[in-house]
Amino acid sequence: MCGIIGYVGESPAQPRLVDGLQKLEYRGYDSAGIALADEALSVFKQAGLVGDIDLPAGATQTRGIGHTRWSTHGKPTDANAHPHTDCTGTVAVVHNGIVGNYDDLRRDLPGHEFTSETDTEVVAHLIEAELERTPDLREAVTAVVERIDGSYALGVVAAGYDAIVAARRSSPLVVGYGDDGNFIASDVTPLLSHTRSVSYLEDGDVARIAHGGVEIWNDGQTVDRPIHTIEWDATAAEKGGYDHYMLKEIYEQPQALRQAIAGRIDPVEKRADLNLSLPETFLNRIDEIQLVACGTSYHACLYGKQLIETLSDVRATVEFASEYTVGSGRNPERTLVVGVSQSGETADTLRALRTARRTGIRTIGVTNTVGSTVARECDEALYIQAGPEIGVAATKTFGSQVVTLGTLALTIADTRNELNPTVGRELCENLQDLPGAVQQVLDHDSTVEEVAREYADGTAFFFIGRRLASPVALEGALKLKEISYDHAEGFPAGELKHGPLALVTDDTPVIAILTDGARPDETKNNVKEVQSRGAPVIAVTSGGREGDHDIGFEVPDLGLLEPLVANVYLQLFAYHVAHSKGRSIDRPRNLAKSVTVE
Ligand code: AGP
Ligand code: GLU
Repeated sequence: MCGIIGYVGESPAQPRLVDGLQKLEYRGYDSAGIALADEALSVFKQAGLVGDIDLPAGATQTRGIGHTRWSTHGKPTDANAHPHTDCTGTVAVVHNGIVGNYDDLRRDLPGHEFTSETDTEVVAHLIEAELERTPDLREAVTAVVERIDGSYALGVVAAGYDAIVAARRSSPLVVGYGDDGNFIASDVTPLLSHTRSVSYLEDGDVARIAHGGVEIWNDGQTVDRPIHTIEWDATAAEKGGYDHYMLKEIYEQPQALRQAIAGRIDPVEKRADLNLSLPETFLNRIDEIQLVACGTSYHACLYGKQLIETLSDVRATVEFASEYTVGSGRNPERTLVVGVSQSGETADTLRALRTARRTGIRTIGVTNTVGSTVARECDEALYIQAGPEIGVAATKTFGSQVVTLGTLALTIADTRNELNPTVGRELCENLQDLPGAVQQVLDHDSTVEEVAREYADGTAFFFIGRRLASPVALEGALKLKEISYDHAEGFPAGELKHGPLALVTDDTPVIAILTDGARPDETKNNVKEVQSRGAPVIAVTSGGREGDHDIGFEVPDLGLLEPLVANVYLQLFAYHVAHSKGRSIDRPRNLAKSVTVE
């Protein structure tokens, strides 16, 4: 969390920083601020959004840093907003991460005056102390980061020093090479309007970003970090006429799903092939795939697990990344860990993947973000190719993750000669038809909106489904709660009667998924149970199934992917409930897009 931007070049820094922060705001929006440097330092910051900062007109400084915050230490106040400065007011620091030992470090700085409750401020004062020893800001920052326990992406400017100093450990930081200057940023989205050429800093890197060039050191040596070309279209990260990024991203799903299978399914043979670099001998001997992820990505793993077990003889297990341990009885030679993360920077998922790697287990990272830490640290990176997702609530990436896990399941099953050709062929055809099926759901958006408005005042919402619809029920509830702030829970339908049924009343709409791949006939019994307690039922069905629910939405026939298509109705439902209540849909309270702390 937190968005960092920095610019040094020949043009005024302020508009570049503000524009960049606005594009990074999805990473955190508790407060925002910028620091501009030339021979002096000026800092402008406050609680609230980037647009709220009281900025001077016509600032001419060509060097600066900016930050949009998701608080970990200290409330979202003006004083706790970044950039943080030292006692002399000549050094400014922006930080993403947690300085774990900030208390101890503060104790080592007697006489320094602290003005915030953050862990970050200590970094500015430590740099101040180092600058008494060396005039070189890069050397000072290098000495300071060696004393930090925890995670950081740092951007530092100082009055009279003609470059930005950046450093990273466990929090992402990208360097952008532009025509009129160079940048640092937490991710590539704010850079796209300036440059496509970027380098990803590695853990332990300290970089000096000047107008004339970029130098990077690691462990006392200068190092080269390769320059990558970003292929995302700059307009892909804009709202494009939609009220919210979330709605735009829901509507982008047909295209995203096409991209997820592009080049991966042979349209004639109906066979999937991911061209994995992991050796076939290894794929043939694995007896367990452990899937690890958080939030929406975790729900995608629950879906993926079922696809893997349907197509191959490999056991698949799913764990919350934050709870992951390798577990007893696993043989690293026969285990594969798949980490799924849209951002590729989620700290919990990275920890789980590192835990696996330490025991010798091979890892695949399924991510949307080229060059992310997950992509770089895993033995193999599988990109879901969904394009930028800005809305804090993940939508298009859920479907793309499931599809990518589906093609992984097909590839592994085929490699091991375990794939039933009819089942494999049918899934490939369904994957090809999926974008069209999703489009048919999107075409019913106005009806979903009416239904959402009708039921928006429910005191709680329950989502139920079996088998492949069980993760979709969890995902539908997560989507609704995170953007509408309503109480929503998802259950495997059979579990309802084991406790949650006590919460069901005529004021609690139940959303039931009754499609193929979801054991609809059994779920119908659960629909009866909630109706007997007075609850209104909104059902998503397929194959023209009859039912006596209050509202019915239909998905096209699509075999194992029908629950995935049903999910698009749940996304639209959540969006319209939240919109009818005037919620901050793209930036729900207390959340951030990328959770880079454990
Ligand atoms: C989804 O709507 C959430 N905002 C959240 O659960 C998210 O899916 C989770 O934090 C994992 O993020 P990742 O995919 O980037 O690792
Ligand atoms: N720990 C810092 C703060 O609370 C940065 C937060 C973050 O990166 O999430 O201000």
